[in-house]
Amino acid sequence: MFYGTGELNELNHLEIGGCDTIELVKEYGTPLYVIDEDHVRESCRSYRNSLSNLHENSEVIYAGKAFLTMEMCKLIEEEGLGLDVVSGGELYTAIKSGFPAKRIYFHGNNKSYNELEMAVKYGVGRIIVDNFYELELLKDLAKKQQNKKIKIMLRLTPGIEAHTHDYIKTGQFDSKFGFGMENGHALMALESALSIKGLKLMGFHCHIGSQIFEEEPFKDTADTMLRFAKGARDKYGFETKEIDFGGGFGIKYIEKDKPLTIHNYISVLFKSVKESCQRYNLTIPKILIEPGRAIIGEAGTTLYTIGAIKNIPGIRKYVSVDGGMSDNIRPALYGAKYSAVIANKAGNPLEESVSIAGKCCESGDMLIWDIDLPKIAPGDILAVFSTGAYHYSMASNYNMLPKPAVVFVNNKMARLVVRRQTYEDLLRNEVFVPHSNSISLANF
Ligand code: LLP
Repeated sequence: MFYGTGELNELNHLEIGGCDTIELVKEYGTPLYVIDEDHVRESCRSYRNSLSNLHENSEVIYAGKAFLTMEMCKLIEEEGLGLDVVSGGELYTAIKSGFPAKRIYFHGNNKSYNELEMAVKYGVGRIIVDNFYELELLKDLAKKQQNKKIKIMLRLTPGIEAHTHDYIKTGQFDSKFGFGMENGHALMALESALSIKGLKLMGFHCHIGSQIFEEEPFKDTADTMLRFAKGARDKYGFETKEIDFGGGFGIKYIEKDKPLTIHNYISVLFKSVKESCQRYNLTIPKILIEPGRAIIGEAGTTLYTIGAIKNIPGIRKYVSVDGGMSDNIRPALYGAKYSAVIANKAGNPLEESVSIAGKCCESGDMLIWDIDLPKIAPGDILAVFSTGAYHYSMASNYNMLPKPAVVFVNNKMARLVVRRQTYEDLLRNEVFVPHSNSISLANF
C-alpha cells in the first residue's frame, strides 16, 4: 500500500509527520494541504549533498513556482538552497520573508521593466535573460546603475527531447523559452550580452522539461550545453563560469512510477558534465540545478471530505470530494494520475473501484479515474498523495471556491502556514456599487 510520506497508525488512520490526519481535519477542515516538513528538508539535503559531494562548486536552487509561501522561503533559506522566482509576486514573497536577495535567481520569458527594476533594486543574485527584448530592457536599466554590473545568465534551448507531457516540455527548439541554439540566436545573444557594458555574463541556463524519468535527456543536455560553452570560448574567448541545468527530476505519484533516486539523477548529470569538459578541454564550471517538484511534490498530501456518491450500476461509481480542479488542476490539464487512501480507514481491505470527482461544475473535474478503495461513505476523509508541487501554487477560485489552508507537520506537531480563504477574502478586491445606490443616484 502506498501511503505517500505517511503511515498507518494504531487507530487505522493515516498519520503524517506523527500527526493523525483525522485530527488535522478536525482542527483545520478540508480540503487541506498537509506538508511533511521533514520530508522537504530531507530532499533539500539529499540534493545538496549529492551534488556537492561530486562537485563542490555547485548550488541547488529551489524552483519556487512549485510551491511558494514565506514559510517555505524560510525553510529553503535554512537548508542553504538558492531560490528561483519567475515573477514580481514570487520575488516579493521571497524578499518579504527575509530571503537573501543574493541567493535569488530571477527567471521568466516576459519579465516587465518594472519587475526587472525591482529585481535590480533588491540586488538579486542573477537575472536569467530569456530573449532579446529583455536584453534591451536590461541595457537600459544597466545605464542607470552606478559602477555596479548586473549579473546575468542566458537561457538557452538546447533542442533536447524530454519524454514528458507536451505542456511541460521546455527544452525543444520550438518553444517560447530561451535563445535557440539551432538557429544561431544563442550565439547572437552571447555576443550582444558581452557587448553591453553594465551587464556581467556569468554563464548559461537551460531547463528541458518536468517530471522526467530517463537519464538520456540529462546526459544529452549536459553535453549540448558544454559544447556551446566550448564554442563561446573558441569564438569569443568567453569563459563560462556557471551552468544551470534547471529542474525536471521526476517523482512518484502512483505505484508504478519509478523515478531515479536523487543520487542517480545527479551522478548521471555530473558524469556527463565531467566527460564533456574533458572532451572540450574546459574547466568544470559551477554547476547549478533547480528542482521544484522533487523538493516539495511527494511531501504534500491533500485531505478532502467525501460527500455525494452517485452509483450508475454497471457503469461507474462517482465519489465527490469537497475540492477538485480548483486545488488540483493537474488531472484536467495534463491527465496527471494520483493515488489515494481513505484516511479514516487506511488499513481496510480494498473493496470497490470508484472514480473521484471534484465539486467544480465541469465534467472534466475528475481527480482520479478508477481507483480501488475500501467501502466508502459520505463523511470519510480521502487523502491524495504527492500533491505538494503545482497544487497550492496553481490553485484558483473557480466556482468561487475558497483556497484550502496549508499546514506543515513535523514531529507530531502541526502549524498553520496559510489560513483557509474565507468568503470575505473572495470578495476583497471587488469594487462594488450596490444596486440600490445606483438607482437612487439615477434619480438625481
Ligand atoms: N527551472 C525552470 C526554469 C523551470 O521552468 C522549472 C519548471 C523548474 C526549474 C522546476 O521544474 P521541476 O523540477 O519542478 O520539474 N505545472 C507543471 C510543471 C511546470 C513546470 C514549469 N517549469 C506541472 O504541474 O506538472
